[in-house]
Amino acid sequence: MRVVEVRTPDQLEDAMRVRFAVFVDEQGVSADMERDAQDDDPRTVHVVAYADDGTALGTGRLLAPHTDDFHADHGAMDPANPHIGRLAVSEAARGTGAGRALMLALESAALARFGADGRVRVELSAQDQAMPFYARLGYVAHGEGYLDEGIPHHDAYKDLTAPSPR
Ligand SMILES: CC(C)(COP(=O)(O)OP(=O)(O)OC[C@H]1O[C@@H](n2cnc3c(N)ncnc32)[C@H](O)[C@@H]1OP(=O)(O)O)[C@@H](O)C(=O)NCCC(=O)NCCS
Repeated sequence: MRVVEVRTPDQLEDAMRVRFAVFVDEQGVSADMERDAQDDDPRTVHVVAYADDGTALGTGRLLAPHTDDFHADHGAMDPANPHIGRLAVSEAARGTGAGRALMLALESAALARFGADGRVRVELSAQDQAMPFYARLGYVAHGEGYLDEGIPHHDAYKDLTAPSPR
């Protein structure tokens, strides 16, 4: 398996196919809500995990810090921090490390693009059922729980530090 940052329209379509299969078909999120303006923001980083045979296994995205009210419905989040979201792994590929690999790629991208003095806080809006996965990666839940598209969520954050140069 390898994780790549999306550079081509075909790779972005691979990401969208996984997202629609997981969030729309499996979880019942409305198709209108799934692809949004942030997907086409040039500062957004999309990543895709590919199997050795080229099958897209999973995806996620990193949003740049925002000055608008995009995060207004997530009370605990600071829009000045980058935001990881839309993390999805195809049902058949779960439990094989793709989710963790995608998160590590998104965290590296956050540090590379938005790190100040080798540090950055990333935030995310976690479905409660996925919180143990995020907690294993070091994310800390904060704030009140809320429903997004009828699904229980909590906000969570992680303070990232760049590895020291050897
Ligand atoms: C949540 C999700 C992305 C995890 O991806 P994954 O590829 O299955 O996760 P990994 O195989 O990389 O698992 C990493 C670790 O987390 C654990 N883990 C994964 N999902 C878990 C869960 N729901 N609850 C508890 N632990 C979990 C794994 O056992 C593994 O543990 P290890 O450290 O002992 O190896 C995937 O289940 C998914 O796409 N779910 C549906 C969509 C979704 O909920 N997205 C998140 C929205 S906020």
